[in-house]
Amino acid sequence: MKLIDKYGRKVTYLRLSVTDRCDFRCVYCMDEKMSFLPRAQLLTLEELEWVGRAFVELGVTKIRITGGEPLVRKNVLSLFQGLGQLEGLKELVLTTNGSQLVKMAQPLKDAGVKRLNISLDTLKQARFKKMTRIGKLDKVLHGIDAALKAGFQRVKINAVILKNRNHDEVSDLVQFAVDCGIDITFIEEMPLGTISDHDRAEAFYSSAEIRQDLDASFSLLPSAETTEGPARYYRVIGTDTRIGFISPHSHNFCESCNRVRLTTEGNLLLCLGQEHSMDLRRVIRANPGNITPLKQSIINSMAIKPKGHDFELDRQPQILRYMNTTGG
Ligand code: 5AD
Ligand code: SF4
Repeated sequence: MKLIDKYGRKVTYLRLSVTDRCDFRCVYCMDEKMSFLPRAQLLTLEELEWVGRAFVELGVTKIRITGGEPLVRKNVLSLFQGLGQLEGLKELVLTTNGSQLVKMAQPLKDAGVKRLNISLDTLKQARFKKMTRIGKLDKVLHGIDAALKAGFQRVKINAVILKNRNHDEVSDLVQFAVDCGIDITFIEEMPLGTISDHDRAEAFYSSAEIRQDLDASFSLLPSAETTEGPARYYRVIGTDTRIGFISPHSHNFCESCNRVRLTTEGNLLLCLGQEHSMDLRRVIRANPGNITPLKQSIINSMAIKPKGHDFELDRQPQILRYMNTTGG
């Protein structure tokens, strides 16, 4: 194991953002008028695979493909196929908005993807439209169906809960997960990028409030399980469903952080809530075919991994990066 930071944390988990583009415009993620990166600035699919290989050779065992919406990138399946063959990679997983799963679920499963996180914030059509600005709920529900049929090890719903937008649906979303036999994680909104849709402090709805709301309909049992992510889990008694809570505001999970993120442009972010980063695209392009300098840069980056984040919803300036370039 080569990737240990100066606080003794082992980095075993890489999140790879493969595009900043998306076919949705979720109000908490993007501004209504987003401009996207010129394609020449993105790492190519071959370069992304190359980075994946370097990390796996350095001891990373889990790679999550994120975006933007990863499945809107042209030929992205070839990346999954390449990464799926890396020896030493135990878990290749994907975060998606579900819009492309009807046609992509089976090929992804065949490429070696083990688990899927599918974003779903509401089960109401009109509301879905409002929260994603341009998304269609039906497409996602059919996508979830396709994922279940393809037989992934686990499928999980990710729901961002905002006060007075969808906070009244937390029980319905859990019931949906129970009916599908899948897991669900509730995520507190994080201040990434400047958005005009709503005031993030006003829309804040805490994990503690969600837990309280769920107590009326479900019996939750705290669970020691982890997926090596930041969520804390509960079992819904009498079902196969686990409920996770990602609470970057109320619960600081930084002390056990095992992950780093690569942006679409090849910038290695050492913390979601801080700006510390290292330009790996430059290293890759300066050393074609030679993986050693890339691996050395990754090792060197461990020295600048910060101790933790401190998100505050009403403090300026916040992190200027949007989630879609950062890789949720
Ligand atoms: N805060 C919290 N979650 C966010 N996501 C996107 N932007 C934000 C934000 N600002 C979520 C998406 C998806 C996951 C990858 O990140 O809804 O479920
Ligand atoms: Fe797209 Fe996901 Fe951002 Fe929504 S949250 S706009 S689905 S990248």
